[in-house]
Amino acid sequence: MSKTINRREFLKRGSALVAAGSLPLSLVEVAFGKAAGENFTFAYISDSHITHVKGSEFVRNWDRGLIRAVAEANLLDPRPDFIFYGGDIAQLGKAEEIDHGLEILGGLNGKVHYVMGEHDYYLDLGDYWKKQLGPDHYSFDHKGVHFVVLNSILTFDDWTNNKWPTAAERMHQMARLDNPQGSPFMVGDAQREWLKTDLEKVGKDTPVVVFSHSPIQKIHKGWNFWTDDAEQVQALLKPFDKVTVIYGHVHQIQYNQIGNISFHSAMATAWPWPYPSTYTQVQTWLPKLTVEMNRADPFFERDATGWQFINLHTGNVDMSYMLPDNSNRVVAFDTRAGKPVDTKYQAVANRIPPQTHY
Ligand SMILES: [Fe+2]
Ligand SMILES: [Fe+2]
Repeated sequence: MSKTINRREFLKRGSALVAAGSLPLSLVEVAFGKAAGENFTFAYISDSHITHVKGSEFVRNWDRGLIRAVAEANLLDPRPDFIFYGGDIAQLGKAEEIDHGLEILGGLNGKVHYVMGEHDYYLDLGDYWKKQLGPDHYSFDHKGVHFVVLNSILTFDDWTNNKWPTAAERMHQMARLDNPQGSPFMVGDAQREWLKTDLEKVGKDTPVVVFSHSPIQKIHKGWNFWTDDAEQVQALLKPFDKVTVIYGHVHQIQYNQIGNISFHSAMATAWPWPYPSTYTQVQTWLPKLTVEMNRADPFFERDATGWQFINLHTGNVDMSYMLPDNSNRVVAFDTRAGKPVDTKYQAVANRIPPQTHY
């Protein structure tokens, strides 16, 4: 079905949806397809961290976040052309967790594309995920836009294969947030070779959208908000006029501009992660364009898991975040500045000091 809408109409529909509650999904409008009248939308859901307790029991809160995202995605009108899932279906990589997550996601109407998260990978090195979902890196073209999906959560072979006595121990180590025993994520040589070949056939004026799980930029190494070969991947994307990288993993709002590439994170359906400066022991590494929001209320299970509306109008991203119990925020591409800015809070004088902790 193809129904065209203008941006004002789309935002109006977006706010009508938000009025219905906090929606843990994102809706994306792509308004720069090469052919006229081929604007389209897609929805984005990420980081469900389905957690197996025992038998048929799973952590209820995480189940509810994903169930709600699926239900809301199915109510979108006009229908999105496809849905993207940003990784970390599972918490500890178990087949039960992946199956349970996919059963819930199976309720989505429409084609779903997936990217691998580290929580899906480090138990069996992605075997079960790939058995269920297919290759971990691929590309596709849709209405004049080239989409690339990368597995960005690989790491050094020695860490993966030789350091841990069991697969479960390896998974536990990589699942920890602040872990000196961890290892930086990377896309790796093989996928970068593949990407180079894949992009050779794409015109430089074709908009390119890259989906990864970790940011293809370096934000904070201690928490693996980091991709070790980010610069090498960015170099392959540099010849293109408009590139957008959309990633999950960080469970919070981040935006940044590096040359021709704009970076935007997606919200999670599970818990929010803290900002580095809310922990006094770590240096703030957030991209300098990102304005921190206040910490979520731990007693409100959906707080800071909101959703965002993403408008890729003319190839530049405007992002509207709808945050229950936090002020809604709009990050819009400023054509004069050549980068995205927070329309309300970017000016230092307008910012609300972040809470340090509860
Ligand atoms: Fe995650
Ligand atoms: Fe992750």
